Amino acid sequence: TGTLTILGLESSCDDTAAAIIRQSGTDAPEILASVVHGQTELHAPFGGVVPEIAARAHAEKLDICIEEALAASNLTLPEIDAIAVTAGPGLIGGVLSGVMCAKGLATGLAIPLVGVNHLAGHALTPRLTDQITFPYLMLLVSGGHCQFLIAHGPESFSRLGGTIDDAPGEAFDKTARLLGLPQPGGPSVQAEAEKGDPKRFRFPRPLLDRPGCDMSFSGLKTALLRARDAVIAEKGGLTKQDRADLCAGFQSAVVDVLAEKTRRALELYLAENPGKPVLAVAGGVAANTAIRARLETICAENVTTFTAPPLHLCTDNAAMIAYAGLERFRAGAKDDMTLSARPRWPL
Ligand code: KG4
Ligand code: ZN
Repeated sequence: TGTLTILGLESSCDDTAAAIIRQSGTDAPEILASVVHGQTELHAPFGGVVPEIAARAHAEKLDICIEEALAASNLTLPEIDAIAVTAGPGLIGGVLSGVMCAKGLATGLAIPLVGVNHLAGHALTPRLTDQITFPYLMLLVSGGHCQFLIAHGPESFSRLGGTIDDAPGEAFDKTARLLGLPQPGGPSVQAEAEKGDPKRFRFPRPLLDRPGCDMSFSGLKTALLRARDAVIAEKGGLTKQDRADLCAGFQSAVVDVLAEKTRRALELYLAENPGKPVLAVAGGVAANTAIRARLETICAENVTTFTAPPLHLCTDNAAMIAYAGLERFRAGAKDDMTLSARPRWPL
């Protein structure tokens, strides 16, 4: 109890972020500042995130993000009670930049350090934004991750299934690259899909014939590549409409797979937790309006509450890291200078 002001740092992929969260007693936590500096332009010439460039940019931008977060919340460093930092999973150079920065601050200010799992950050966001209580079913869909989790507690998650290869965000990004659309691919493919005919190209719905909640998205990009090349071979190029139809076909395949697997995950979850019908989504792909709409329909059919954080808290940010750190800290967890950066760290 008491008032706790916590600074969170995130640098595990291609966004550098700092945020400050304050919680008084058992009141709802308040986001005092949330600053995100993306690196999209830095990586654009290479067609994907370059780990070495990302790490260097994080090292340069972390201080700036922290200064901006302090300025936005009218606070100074001595007013911070604890530091939370993403300690994995992610690109190791970036995670290391964040962990070292956090260690320096915690030592200099003589305050506690709390390492946070990036996935736990996403998975706990519905508690930050909507005060959702445990347990709940979580679909985490981003550029790097895709899994169904039951959240039992701040550090207790069980996994019902997930992708066996690519994450959907990655598939959206690759689709955009194959069609010459801007990165990140999610928003640009979605915009094209809205103008296209989802029935013109029929893409596979992998693993729907298999039981369980596992998914696969890598075959989709191969199918898209073939369909694109078939059109080019036939007509010598792609028209605007071809591009829109390819996007619509691709997106509708992703939506169908996510929808069917969500239906199954919800069934499994509800069998164990009939008194707590809640599905939460998070991760960058949760920003997709077609995906959101289908998930809302499934929830309505199953008398289940649907909740999704606002978009800026769905994609990578440090408010979710500060909040996950706060939950861990309130639960008595604490790290020290032996905290290590982990490239892999399953929940
Ligand atoms: O959670 P996030 O910011 O980063 C991690 O991967 O952890 O998610 C970024 C991903 C990118 O692949 C991006 O293309 C995708 O989320 N995304 C979308 C949409 N907006 C962002 N995918 C589909 N539809 C969208 N509207
Ligand atoms: Zn993420």
